[in-house]
Amino acid sequence: MIFKKRNCMKSIDPLIRKRHSARAIDPDRPVPDETLETLIEAARWAPSCFNNQPWRIVVSKDKSLPKVKECLSRGNGWAQDAPVIFTFASKPELGCQKTGRDYFPLDLGLAIENILLQGISMGLVMHPIAGFDEILLKESLRIPDEYRVHALVIVGHPLPAERMESSQREKEAQPSERKSAEEIVSWEGWPQLSDEKI
Ligand SMILES: Cc1cc2nc3c(=O)[nH]c(=O)nc-3n(C[C@H](O)[C@H](O)[C@H](O)COP(=O)(O)O)c2cc1C
Repeated sequence: MIFKKRNCMKSIDPLIRKRHSARAIDPDRPVPDETLETLIEAARWAPSCFNNQPWRIVVSKDKSLPKVKECLSRGNGWAQDAPVIFTFASKPELGCQKTGRDYFPLDLGLAIENILLQGISMGLVMHPIAGFDEILLKESLRIPDEYRVHALVIVGHPLPAERMESSQREKEAQPSERKSAEEIVSWEGWPQLSDEKI
């Protein structure tokens, strides 16, 4: 089956297309607790295997925030401006464990997508990151050894374009690319050489 690219783009929910990982955050604008509670509520309603809800979330907005920022990789320097960082942690025993398959990272990913979409719908910058020192972060937040932290979510208000440096403005304007549906999807089975080529 051939995808009609334009039609597919048209029919998806606009929120999905609006979501993107912005980096320019207003350092002077805090995110109110009420907003944070709404974001957490969105994560809470994510699906999970057997409804195990294996996610544990640490919110850093006051005294733990500088400590979390110290754990970020150098490439994530832009996140130093964030007023809030969510740490998503879990461990295999909290999620479904099917032979050889741990589902907790998948469940966390679903909760993270929920929180991202909720925040984007509220006009926030919502940016998931994997670039951090997990050991240092766990020490800083007193997360027990057996837990894994696969991702943080950087949260803030967008920096108004007129306050961005030109390099920042350029980066933020770069369009997000995606592989075509043909590259990632096959119908009715794994892709194989077409009959004529066999
Ligand atoms: C699990 C995960 C880890 C990521 N880690 C980082 C990161 O460390 N630094 C960063 O700037 N972006 C990070 N990103 C954001 C991706 O680069 C971004 O989602 C991707 O380029 C697609 O762009 P978009 O989200 O704007 O559509 C991460 C995204 C995911 C889902």
